[in-house]
Amino acid sequence: MKRAHWESAGRIRSLLLAGDAKPEVFRAALTDVAPAERDAWLDAVLGIESIPDDGPALPRGCVPYLPCPVDAILRMVDGAGVQASDVFVDIGSGVGRAAALVHLLTGAAAIGLEIQPDLVRASRDLAARLKAVHFAPIEGDAVRLAGFIMIGTIFFLYCPFSGDRLEKVLDDLEPIARTRPIRVCSVDLPLPPRPWLMPALPPTGDLAVYRSVPSLGAAGT
Ligand SMILES: C[S@@+](CC[C@H](N)C(=O)[O-])C[C@H]1O[C@@H](n2cnc3c(N)ncnc32)[C@H](O)[C@@H]1O
Repeated sequence: MKRAHWESAGRIRSLLLAGDAKPEVFRAALTDVAPAERDAWLDAVLGIESIPDDGPALPRGCVPYLPCPVDAILRMVDGAGVQASDVFVDIGSGVGRAAALVHLLTGAAAIGLEIQPDLVRASRDLAARLKAVHFAPIEGDAVRLAGFIMIGTIFFLYCPFSGDRLEKVLDDLEPIARTRPIRVCSVDLPLPPRPWLMPALPPTGDLAVYRSVPSLGAAGT
């Protein structure tokens, strides 16, 4: 990474540790960094030094930890129109990097569902280090928990699992969508069709953004 980018990462990290990083300041600093260097810049800001090993708690058929690229998260935030009033839920949240990034970019509160205890511990450390981050990691199986997160407005999946698990999570989100409009976003994970979900954006290569249909009973966004 260029020296200027290390310096900007250090400046933003100091603001974060002081609890004083406004979303517009954070976003301007991030987008000032060349796209190819943004992942390293974010890791420097968040103090993430390495990718942790996966443990035995990861069920067979579920996907190990791999952080979603910053570029995809930026496009998701813009495509889904994430606002400070949203509650962002990362389904399979790893060390909390994506949830922290969305919060820092938008001010939205963030919840992470993660099944691997060591990763949840790393997320809690991250949330504690970055005093301004309104990020609550929850340990457990997201397949079972996602439908209980009734306050969620944006549900994000960076391919934690597919098949029956994904089908169940989508079915469990429908009752939430009956109470308020929600968006469901995925990266590198085609979502099986559901009559209550419609594309919010024309499909792009890796990113899909869906919104719940207004006729479900919730007012449109
Ligand atoms: C590809 S990583 C994505 C991490 C994070 N969303 C990010 O973008 O930085 C998938 C994550 O989902 C977690 N995971 C897989 N199956 C899960 C399940 N059933 N419940 C909760 N988390 C799960 C894995 O442990 C891993 O951390």
